[in-house]
Amino acid sequence: MSTTIIEVKASLDHNLANPETRQSALSSAQITDYDHRQTVGKITVDNPKMICRNVNVYYAEKQAIKHVSLDIGANEVIAFIGPSGCGKSTVLRCLNRMNDTIPICRVTGEIRLESEDIYDKKIDVVQLRARVGMVFQKPNPFPKSIYENVAYGPRIHGMVNGKAEMDELVRASLERAGLLKEVDKRMNEPGTSLSGGQQQRLCIARAIAVNPEVILMDEPCSALDPIATAKIEELIDELRENYTIVIVTHSMQQAARVSQRTAYFHLGDLIEIGETDQIFTNPRHKLTEDYITGRFG
Ligand SMILES: Nc1ncnc2c1ncn2[C@@H]1O[C@H](COP(=O)(O)OP(=O)(O)OP(=O)(O)O)[C@@H](O)[C@H]1O
Ligand SMILES: [Mg+2]
Repeated sequence: MSTTIIEVKASLDHNLANPETRQSALSSAQITDYDHRQTVGKITVDNPKMICRNVNVYYAEKQAIKHVSLDIGANEVIAFIGPSGCGKSTVLRCLNRMNDTIPICRVTGEIRLESEDIYDKKIDVVQLRARVGMVFQKPNPFPKSIYENVAYGPRIHGMVNGKAEMDELVRASLERAGLLKEVDKRMNEPGTSLSGGQQQRLCIARAIAVNPEVILMDEPCSALDPIATAKIEELIDELRENYTIVIVTHSMQQAARVSQRTAYFHLGDLIEIGETDQIFTNPRHKLTEDYITGRFG
């Protein structure tokens, strides 16, 4: 949480100015061999929560994702970055089969949640999406009360017995999402009556209420002001204790602040993956370097 983009840029400039570091950063064959690109960096982690291997995604005939392999570590925040259209949202949606809702979309390869193949025919997709929840770019509360927004998931999954238990779960989820204080006296007001930042925290509370293991966030702060963004970023850092989080962001400052690992995508390829500090201060691939220094994207 402590790295600022200024520190990141300063460190990067330092590394690139240093002939030795620059040499090693630019001498990799993978930098120029675009036809045989291999992901630069370590795709595996010691304690993976999800594993993607050789994932390809097609929209009709067009291939949007090419041979992507990576691990998502338990209790880590991993950031997906890259220029618009590079496939960040597509990969994210593969992780809870949201792409199933797009008829022309076809996914091949292997994606596991712990040991389970999430594309196995036996998988109940509703259960999967409870285990791997999602928070979207635009806050999308249901047209229901604040209380009902959070209670909805636990109710359809039959998670609680009786009103007292439900009250407790709703309050606990709002508390975890850092929203309880602000809505304690307004539980019956519509979710849509909240500010944008509060609505996004309500959506996070709704995702948390069904006790997910992984939370996918697709540019969760892009519609928010800096104060609301800071609150969500703080929340992401706290949530990491209990959940695994995958965040797509266009903000490199945000990726640097909230994530421990970063994956850089370019035209459907996973170009580079590594510790966030390394990606931002000492990128090994020329494309990553160009993107984070603002020369591309
Ligand atoms: N529903 C769809 N139908 C057809 N093509 C799609 C669909 N969704 C995405 N694509 C294509 O797949 C590629 C990757 O898109 P995706 O939305 O995953 O990119 P992204 O990195 O999330 O971009 P952005 O930063 O703009 O959100 C693009 O070429 C896009 O046009
Ligand atoms: Mg996207």
